[in-house]
Amino acid sequence: MTAVALVGGTLPVPPLLQPTLDKDVLVFPLQMATGSTEVLPGVASPTAGFNGAFLGPTMRILERQKVRFSVTNNLAEETTVHWHGLHIAPSMDGGPQNIIAAGTTWSPQFTVKQSQSCTLWYHPHGLGTTARQVSLGLAGMIIVDSPSPASASLPRDYGRDDFPLIMQSTAVLADGSLAQNNGGFTAAGSTLQLLVNGASATAATPTLSVDRGRVRLRLLNASLVDTITVARADGAAVTQVASDAGLLAAPLSVTSVRLVHGERAEILLDLTTGTTVTLQATVQNAVNAVRYTVPLVAVSTTSPPGPLLPPLPPTLNVITPLATTNALTRTLTLNNNGAIQMINGIAGTSITTLHDNMIMTGLNDIEVWDVVNATAALHHSFHLHDVPYQVISINGVAASGVNLGWKDTIEVPPGATVKIAMQFTDFTDTEYMYMLHCHNLVHEDAGMMLGLMVN
Ligand code: C2O
Ligand code: CU
Repeated sequence: MTAVALVGGTLPVPPLLQPTLDKDVLVFPLQMATGSTEVLPGVASPTAGFNGAFLGPTMRILERQKVRFSVTNNLAEETTVHWHGLHIAPSMDGGPQNIIAAGTTWSPQFTVKQSQSCTLWYHPHGLGTTARQVSLGLAGMIIVDSPSPASASLPRDYGRDDFPLIMQSTAVLADGSLAQNNGGFTAAGSTLQLLVNGASATAATPTLSVDRGRVRLRLLNASLVDTITVARADGAAVTQVASDAGLLAAPLSVTSVRLVHGERAEILLDLTTGTTVTLQATVQNAVNAVRYTVPLVAVSTTSPPGPLLPPLPPTLNVITPLATTNALTRTLTLNNNGAIQMINGIAGTSITTLHDNMIMTGLNDIEVWDVVNATAALHHSFHLHDVPYQVISINGVAASGVNLGWKDTIEVPPGATVKIAMQFTDFTDTEYMYMLHCHNLVHEDAGMMLGLMVN
């Protein structure tokens, strides 16, 4: 595959993947292959992507559809592909047990069980290889649509008023390769880069020209290790309508959106009065030191004034708190020993270790977990496969704001305790595990991951 220059200019938008029909099943073909990409002008970086040299197409699926993701691995090594946030059987989840050998195709087929609109994503998840494979560009977005009047009231015309913003904080090393771990960011000759949909926001602010009205941006922090805070450059508020795993109960006015690695949010920008809105990103490393601040995207409209937009519905989603009175409780402690990262003292770096130490739960069980960050300075995150969770409290303070929305990934700062509740619905298995882990992919590879089996 040839090098693609992706520097500056108009924001690239990943194409929507058009499925083919096999009887009543929508088939989404994904081809994984290596390529080369000019992240820096004139420098060909070795990269990889789905159906291209970097990143992958957006897959849009609907509640209750029958779909098949047909993944062909044309890399020179084995991989797996995980559907981050999708409520799916563990044998199809794409965790470390679902290996796709080089040269083979893996085709999980399932009925979409998600019962709310949400922004998810997909990426490799092999043991010890996730950070490297994702760093090459193997990531893409999944949009789940669920019909509801609130969903229908939001912008949802992909590429017109509804856009992904896949943000990746990376670094181009002196030899042209992309950083695969924290050391790559600080190595001599490295150039820090914020990529947005594969374009370098560091080189030139990507621009997006839209029709007058509301614009929906689906923010994904697909960085290996960094946290990204997005805010309007003029300090004005934006309207957040969704957290990781679904629409918020009500539109929320926020002045910034902080996303840990793996986390998503949906925001609306108001361009009804015809202006340019510039968003900027502040990028922080694993110990929360600011690496850089850079304009992320400039959204503008030149179209003539149209009719006034109807107000957003006051209710976007009904989020019923899980009944936790009789819930089983557990503590999951994130800790480390030098470079070895652990949960409850276990470094989940092999299938045997994951299997021998897995959490066992039952179908429809409701559990309450205290996720404790016992490391001195590292900001971790906590991601759970299978089902989204509700945040009950953070350091004993009842959850509020965006944390009242459904989530599957959350930041856990040093010393913090995040109390979450979840219910393990629909899927059981006696062979395949779900994973729970820190989404700092270097930490995940270094063992901050456990398995979970529902049966
Ligand atoms: Cu996005 Cu287990 O990962
Ligand atoms: Cu971590």
